Amino acid sequence: MKTQVAIIGGGPSGLLLSQLLDRKGISSIVLERQTREHVLGRIRAGVLERGLVALMEEAGCAERLHAEGFLHDGTLISYGDEMFRVNFTEHVDKPVVVYGQTEVTRDLYEARDKAGGTIIHRVENVVIHDADSDAPHVTYEVDGEAQRIDCDFIAGCDGFHGVSRKTIPEDVRQEFEKVYPFGWLGVLSETPPVNHELIYANSPRGFALCSMRNANLSRYYIQCSLDDKPEDWSDEAFWDELKKRIPPDQAAKLVTGPSIEKSIAPLRSFVTEPMRWGRLFLCGDAAHIVPPTGAKGLNTAASDVHYLYHALVDFYADGSTKGIDSYSENALARVWKAERFSWWFTTMMHQFPEQSEFDLKMQIADLEFLRSSAAAQKAMAENYVGLPY
Ligand code: APR
Ligand code: PHB
Repeated sequence: MKTQVAIIGGGPSGLLLSQLLDRKGISSIVLERQTREHVLGRIRAGVLERGLVALMEEAGCAERLHAEGFLHDGTLISYGDEMFRVNFTEHVDKPVVVYGQTEVTRDLYEARDKAGGTIIHRVENVVIHDADSDAPHVTYEVDGEAQRIDCDFIAGCDGFHGVSRKTIPEDVRQEFEKVYPFGWLGVLSETPPVNHELIYANSPRGFALCSMRNANLSRYYIQCSLDDKPEDWSDEAFWDELKKRIPPDQAAKLVTGPSIEKSIAPLRSFVTEPMRWGRLFLCGDAAHIVPPTGAKGLNTAASDVHYLYHALVDFYADGSTKGIDSYSENALARVWKAERFSWWFTTMMHQFPEQSEFDLKMQIADLEFLRSSAAAQKAMAENYVGLPY
């Protein structure tokens, strides 16, 4: 088979890139290891920056998002007996859209189907060949049969555990990592959200987050030990602990119910450099991971897609390699700022096992400053709604 861009990974990065390229007449084939049902079974943060919404619009996939997503023009932060609000529209004149990542992925799959796009599922043993030449190709197997795709470029959109990053030789690749000594225990429940805005809570018992998917679907998280297992936490124990970590007036309003999903996610900051090697480009989780505090994962993937999409459109329009040559630098400049924000927000909001009295004082000072300073709130709002591309 032949295509212009071989895309490895059918998560949100790969699908969005494929859809955007198609609208400009650039062909692609998406190779996905899992079934579609499996990909759509993943539950992930659902806060969309304006930049991602604009890309979904450009991709012709924003109709449901606009109809069903919630505009949030602020967020709540609690610590001790305090709860305050950071107002996004007042400070930066932009809201975020709360709309599940699963729904974004579903909309992209539907758009690819409508456009007759090729997505090959259940691929195995994907190998990238000659990415440092002008004629790369990809080999893989489906149902035990060997296949090959010849292409101009390869987009590595295959997440943290994919093959693309590892294809970049070790002497070229540098990795930067911070692993946090705790996880998030998340629960999805068919209950109305406790508040119409998200609540990020710093409590002496550990972090908590109240989020939502829609008017009758709530998503809650509590910081937990990495040794915990979801089955260690009964629904009752989860709700009891959550209530102890959020402000009492919110706890009193919390509607509880059976969990329909319960899982534990570890927290990690990770960046690989460079994000390009010859004709291979890394996008999204394949190149970087953020801890979920602030919901930057999908949004950072979207900014990579933005840079790569424009680089490829320019290349196919007039042979310009400017965007391609500056892809890694441009993408990384924004990635590192999102890494900084996610790391800062995580550090300010969680209890760390090794935290000294001094560290605790610093955390409270950081929160006090954010509560009382318009400048600090503006900086937070600017990052939360998304830095410009
Ligand atoms: N071959 C083919 N597909 C692969 C391979 C492989 N060797 N390895 C992984 N994949 C697929 C995975 O099954 C997954 O569907 O690549 C896809 C990568 O998708 P994601 O992990 O969702 O990553 P990405 O598309 O970059 O999305 C960005 O934002 O909120 C964050 O981490 C969250 O998924 C999210 C991300
Ligand atoms: C979520 O809704 O899953 C969510 C929201 C905000 C975050 C993280 C996760 O910062």
